Amino acid sequence: MEEIERVALEEIEKAKTPEELRHIEVKYLGKKGIITEQLKGLGTLEPEKRREKGMALNRAKQVILEAIKRQSKRIVELQALSEGRIDPTLPGITPQVGHIHPLSQVLEEVIEIFYSLGYYVMDFYEVETEYYNFEALNIPKDHPARDLQDTFYLEDGFLLRTHTSAGQIRAMRLLPPPFRAVFPGKVFRFEATDASHEHTFHQLEGLMIDRHVSVAHLLSAMMTLLTAIFGKDVGVRLRPGYFPFVEPGFELDISCSVCEGKGCSVCKHSGYVEFLGCGLVHPNVIRAGGLDPKEWEGWAFGIGLSRLVMMRYKVSDIRWLFSGDLRFVRQF
Ligand code: FA5
Repeated sequence: MEEIERVALEEIEKAKTPEELRHIEVKYLGKKGIITEQLKGLGTLEPEKRREKGMALNRAKQVILEAIKRQSKRIVELQALSEGRIDPTLPGITPQVGHIHPLSQVLEEVIEIFYSLGYYVMDFYEVETEYYNFEALNIPKDHPARDLQDTFYLEDGFLLRTHTSAGQIRAMRLLPPPFRAVFPGKVFRFEATDASHEHTFHQLEGLMIDRHVSVAHLLSAMMTLLTAIFGKDVGVRLRPGYFPFVEPGFELDISCSVCEGKGCSVCKHSGYVEFLGCGLVHPNVIRAGGLDPKEWEGWAFGIGLSRLVMMRYKVSDIRWLFSGDLRFVRQF
């Protein structure tokens, strides 16, 4: 069988015209072709031999057919070339090179900073349970605070997480205290979109659990973080903020870099952009994380990563980030 195959392949390679190729095809695979005749003879063999030979014949048939197809294509190309219908000196089509999205670029950079500061970097679920997204974070059913973060509800008590804070309890149950961890990711909200609000955006959560934690620790950590991220001092504004899972809670705004603080549609003409929420972890949350709030305390923050990208690259509308427009992405 191997010999037949070898000779056939040699003949196919030597064929110079479609007619010659057709002739070879008939010789091997035609009604009275060499392979066909052998296939016909299979019936007279013992079952074991029949199976073995049948497989070898079918393989040979396949190899010959593919070789004929390849050679047929070559003959057509050679003909076109000899008649001057193909210009082989034309440059080929340059393949498009991919581009890392600005969000991924900033995320990689920020993760590197936290990693060097001794934080674990974790990844949690985008589809969460009501328990982890709300209840365990001290936001019981029917609590008005749920209205602040409405979301897309799935079946069986699942939802698209509204914030990366949903990972806080999971982190506490996974890591032995004391620890510090960040967990970035995509979050979803039922939101009327505008220049600074998307329904799907990115956050980065930070959680530190230790003994004797104070607001002074939290603020010093936030300032270290902002200087590292922006590589320079940035104007910040700290306001009291209400989040049921921290007490006390704060909102930290940064000076809008799109308009240099003069006022634009991104900062709603205030000169400041809401950048992160933070605070000392509420004892109920520590308890839900499986720890004793008399022994363990902590602070947490949630950065609007999409806003960070906007501030870093002076992007005037958050909706550009997920527009899918390559002209936008290629600028970074
Ligand atoms: C939260 O999501 C809290 N989980 C943050 C937090 C964590 C507080 C830990 C305390 C402790 P807030 O809804 O404010 O909070 O969102 C946090 C940040 O995400 C905002 O400061 C803002 O930068 C960004 N953000 C909020 N909504 C949007 C949106 N629709 N589009 C883009 N960015 C948004």
